Order: sequence, then C-alpha cells, then structure tokens
Amino acid sequence: MSRYRTHLFLCTNERPADHPRGSCKARGAEPLLEIVKEEAKKAGVPGPFRANRSGCLDACESGPVLAVYPEGVFYTVRNREEIARVMVEHLVGGTIVRDLVISDPPRGS
Ligand code: FES
Repeated sequence: MSRYRTHLFLCTNERPADHPRGSCKARGAEPLLEIVKEEAKKAGVPGPFRANRSGCLDACESGPVLAVYPEGVFYTVRNREEIARVMVEHLVGGTIVRDLVISDPPRGS
C-alpha cells in the first residue's frame, strides 16, 4: 500500500551548461515546484498528496520533467498552464494529458 495517494517528483537536476543532454534546471524547473504545489491545492488534488524535487529522471531532453505516481506517467511541464492541466485533467479528472506525456523510453533501457 502506498503512503501517498499521489506522489509527484519534479526533476531539478543541474548539469554544466555545455552538457549534451542539458538539464531540467537549465530548462527552468527550479521555480516550478512551488507552482505544482499551488496548482494542486487550487485544483483540489485528493490526498494524501506529496510533491518533491528529484534528481535526474533520465528524460532530460524533454525537461522539465514531472513524474506522477502511482501511475508512473512522465510529463513535460514548462509553465503554470501545463502544470494546471496535469492537476485538473489527470490528478482530479483521471484523464492522462496525452500531449504532455514523455513517451520516449529511458536511455538506460
Ligand atoms: S536532468 Fe531532469 S530528467 Fe535528467
């Protein structure tokens, strides 16, 4: 049994500016965690709910990356509007936001 009904992980990993894969921090992830929390509250995401920053989730080229568990869906979220859509459509409405889903397999697989 999960401790949380919904557990989100936002990658805020940072790499050197010339790294070939880039990083979520370089793509603007850092301020998004507070927005995730704000939009979750605004949307009424059912709890227990938790949102944490994370290290690299191996989808760097598609960042900033937001992973949603227990479903294991990985999203690209670039701004408040996209985060709000994930909260309202997926976490409240139960419908995966297909146009924001990262579908590429992990590079390590
Ligand atoms: S740096 Fe964010 S997924 Fe790799």
